[in-house]
Amino acid sequence: MPKSSHATWGGRFSAAPAELMLRFSESVSFDRRLAPFDVAGSKAHAAMLAHVGLLTARERAAIAAGLDAILAEIEAGRFKWDTALEDVHMNIEQALTKRTPAAAKLHTARSRNDQVATDMRLWFKFACATLREKILAAERALLAAAAANRDALIPGYTHLQRAQPVFLAHHLFAWLEMLDRDRARLADVAAHANWCPLGSGAIAGTTLPIDREFAARALGFVDARGRPQVTQNSMDAVADRDLFIEFASACALFGVHLSRIAEDLILWSSAEFKFVELPDAFCTGSSLMPQKKNPDSCELLRGKSARLQGNLHTLLTLAKGLPLTYNRDLQEDKPPVFDSFDQSALCADVLAGTLSGLTANRDRCAAAVSDPALLATDLADYLVRKGVPFREAHHAVGAVVRLSEKNGVPLDRLPTGEVRKIHAAFGTDWTAVFDLKRALAKRRGTGMPGPAQVARQFARWTKLLK
Ligand code: ARG
Repeated sequence: MPKSSHATWGGRFSAAPAELMLRFSESVSFDRRLAPFDVAGSKAHAAMLAHVGLLTARERAAIAAGLDAILAEIEAGRFKWDTALEDVHMNIEQALTKRTPAAAKLHTARSRNDQVATDMRLWFKFACATLREKILAAERALLAAAAANRDALIPGYTHLQRAQPVFLAHHLFAWLEMLDRDRARLADVAAHANWCPLGSGAIAGTTLPIDREFAARALGFVDARGRPQVTQNSMDAVADRDLFIEFASACALFGVHLSRIAEDLILWSSAEFKFVELPDAFCTGSSLMPQKKNPDSCELLRGKSARLQGNLHTLLTLAKGLPLTYNRDLQEDKPPVFDSFDQSALCADVLAGTLSGLTANRDRCAAAVSDPALLATDLADYLVRKGVPFREAHHAVGAVVRLSEKNGVPLDRLPTGEVRKIHAAFGTDWTAVFDLKRALAKRRGTGMPGPAQVARQFARWTKLLK
């Protein structure tokens, strides 16, 4: 082999790549984090090769021991990464060559194309499990915040205008529903990742008598009953990047939820609302204005969501229009998913931290929710119970609201005589509608904010998040 050629594929080359090309084309600076998965994949591949007689037991053992030693070096920060060796796969293979001559047989019946697909599928399973744990912790913090403020009431908003009264817990449980769906989506992504591409080779498998199911089983690509799951088309297995897109999409949607939660908290912590106090540990001050306490953790949660959406777009754009199967463009698939993972993991932790230190300002909540106009719809329902068609009732209550605004008198203090002039169906008992407790108790259907339902949701979430 000419000295100037590349170690692993230099056979047909007479000149080495330009230094600029090495710098341009390397991926080891970001794919080195795949090392544990690459080593696991190679150990399983070697075990399979030994199983079918393509490696001796001795060679297999030397490869496994060498890979373990290399991973230990990597984890201790002692491994010398070489960008000239392009990626994590070739760095590890080269290092193994220095330890055992059997290394030259490891790449039998394997290509970097099915190797990187395998590494990434293992990584996605890990990434989804990690994020699911972190989101679960945030959900638990949310449940605790709801439990600490069990009887607090706030106005619910539409169009950012006060709409109807709800328990603060009901609002927090809406966030829980969102986060729990995010966790479910990540479980779906992990299930989609659970198919082993090893044996697909570069594009068309191999002529050698390998055992794909053996490798799949060794790597945990198995169904609920322990049966191995292997990809069913060698071309799709090396070309497909659906998983990357699905993962980035699950993270982007998690980001959208984080951003909406953050926005509510930012509003609620402002002097205008003052429903909550955010923990000092997750806020910062102003370098100029001494009185400021800024909700930075929430603002950054909102900001990071832009980045998560950007990563999804990068991947969609990267994959579109590529001819089957592998193209080097696909090396650019990893930075966006790694970034989505890192940022989502951080965001989940920060959300949990921010929620853990959250305190509700009960007085401000109570004052905001005491506005009788929040029960205008209940007043319309009162007329409906007396047989008035809803449209007519809506109109009549609208006129009552107008009167209260014109006279500067709270809705529930208007003289009954005046109100009866608007609609004869208003009885002497019309102001009973404005009893907040009673109004909430009437909302007893599933999913509604009445006290019985909120209690049910407490029980449900306590069980689900155990
Ligand atoms: N570093 C490459 C990547 O991340 C590994 C696969 C390379 N395959 C190839 N045929 N050049 O995509």
